This record gives sequence, C-alpha cells and structure tokens, in this order.
Amino acid sequence: MNDRNDPPVRIAAVGDVHMDQDVLGRFRPALEQLAEQADVLLLAGDLTRHGTEAEARCVAQEFGHVGVPVVAVLGNHDYHCDQVDKVVNVLADEGGITVLEGDSTVVETPTCRIGVAGAKGFGGGFAGRCASEFGEPEMKAFVRTTSAVADRLGAALRELDCDLRVALTHYAPVPDTLAGEPPEIYPFLGSYLLGQAIDSAPTALAVHGHAHAGSERGATPGGVRVRNVAHPVIKQAYSVFRLG
Ligand SMILES: [Fe+2]
Ligand SMILES: [Fe+2]
Repeated sequence: MNDRNDPPVRIAAVGDVHMDQDVLGRFRPALEQLAEQADVLLLAGDLTRHGTEAEARCVAQEFGHVGVPVVAVLGNHDYHCDQVDKVVNVLADEGGITVLEGDSTVVETPTCRIGVAGAKGFGGGFAGRCASEFGEPEMKAFVRTTSAVADRLGAALRELDCDLRVALTHYAPVPDTLAGEPPEIYPFLGSYLLGQAIDSAPTALAVHGHAHAGSERGATPGGVRVRNVAHPVIKQAYSVFRLG
C-alpha cells in the first residue's frame, strides 16, 4: 500500500481518439515519453471511428507497447460495425492492450497495486431527468441495458483486490462533466447508475469520455473524483492524475 513516503501513483488517460489511417502519428510522439510520466495508460473508449478491424490496427499501432500497461474500454463508435470481437482481438494481439467490459485488471507498480474496473456503460440520464424501466419493451430494454452494465461495473469494483481502485467507462457517470453539451442529449451521454456503481466501492478516481463538448471535472454524489478525458476536452495526448 502506498504510504506517505512513496511516490504518487500516476494514471494517464485519454478517450475518443477515434483512430483511422489519417490520425496515425498524432499521439505517438507524446506517448514515447509516457513511461517516464505514468504507471498505466487508460483508454476511455471511442478508440476508432466506426469499429472496423483496420481502424483497430491503427489503435494498436498508435497506443500499443508504450512502456506501461494499457487498459481500455470500448465506446459506442467501436460497436458500430458489429465487429467487437475482432476489434478486441486486434487490440490485445497487436497492441498488448487489455480491454475491459464489466471486469477488472490489476496493474502492479513497485509500491502499489492499481485495480482498474471498466465497462463501456450506456445512457439513461441523471437523477430527476432519467429514463425509467416502464412502458414499451424497447424503453425497458434500454434502461435494463444500463442497469446491467452498471451492476457489472459495481461488482467488478467491489471484488477488486488492490490498493487503489480506478473506474474506467466511456459513458459519463455524472452530469458535471457534460457541462457544455446540449442538455437535451444528456440521457444519451451517461447514467447516474454508473455513478452509483462507482460509489459502491472505495474508488479513488473515475475517468470517462464520450462527451466531446463536455467539461473536465466532476464528482460522484459519494465524492469520487470524476474526469472527462475525451481528447477534444483535454486537448492533449493524455492527462496524468497523481493519486496516493
Ligand atoms: Fe467519441
Ligand atoms: Fe462515444
């Protein structure tokens, strides 16, 4: 466990890099220095434009083998071509990237075991202005999808055996980090159920993407620090968060 004399744990994160051939090389120069600045790199989904195998190869080429473990979740764009299994395999085989969906991984540093639980998440909205499991089968299926993914994320966080927990999603767990997006689309940008899942464990940090026009900082009702790391928001190759 980190004590006060240990150096802080350093978490690098970026989302919504939307890779394709024309994006190759945009991030790599900054990533060459990553191992000096961070212990792990988190990718918060929308790694590709349309979720093709060819685009996944670009992700592996750009973000793979950067000298620290790379842990990712997929985003809605990565699902578009219905090739999720192929995308995940390319990221793992060619990039050495661990892709989470309702599960977790532990990254060992000399002083700390960093537990990362991840899930893409889904929409539904936030307290007082959210979809409910009522009415048409399609609406019930929509809300049940979010509910199920939030349940898996919460369980993955609670079951982690580590020193420091980080939650990684694509969709937002709180509305704070959506400020700047039109309020009408908040229900398609995230769900309070993800925030409840994060608050169900002693989580140190939650990062997400998806909201390109959102803002960077927020917190769950339980006080967990939430950061929107979508590339259009952070406007750099990655942000680094120091914890512990
Ligand atoms: Fe995106
Ligand atoms: Fe997205």
